[in-house]
Amino acid sequence: MPRVTFVPDGKTVEVPAGTSILDAAEAADVDLPSNCGGVCACTTCHVWVEEGLDSLSELEDREDDKLNEAAGLAPTSRLGCQACVSTGDVVVRIPHNRIAS
Ligand code: FES
Repeated sequence: MPRVTFVPDGKTVEVPAGTSILDAAEAADVDLPSNCGGVCACTTCHVWVEEGLDSLSELEDREDDKLNEAAGLAPTSRLGCQACVSTGDVVVRIPHNRIAS
């Protein structure tokens, strides 16, 4: 199964192919907010993909449109509730302003 590692938490979890980054975060007990409940209607689940961008599901138009509203948008940005793992390992960074203190 593919592994998802969360930075800066440093937690790694193995999840079945098709699992979203958001669900992987929950499985890893990593705090990744999801204010809209994972329906691509907010940007709180925004992450930067540091490794394995090509291993994620395709960026759909709806996600792309919503991502444009995200603070700190980068070429490797994805919405955690929309990006799903396939066969490869992935490393994602949660923007520091999303981490609960
Ligand atoms: Fe709202 Fe992902 S949880 S867009």
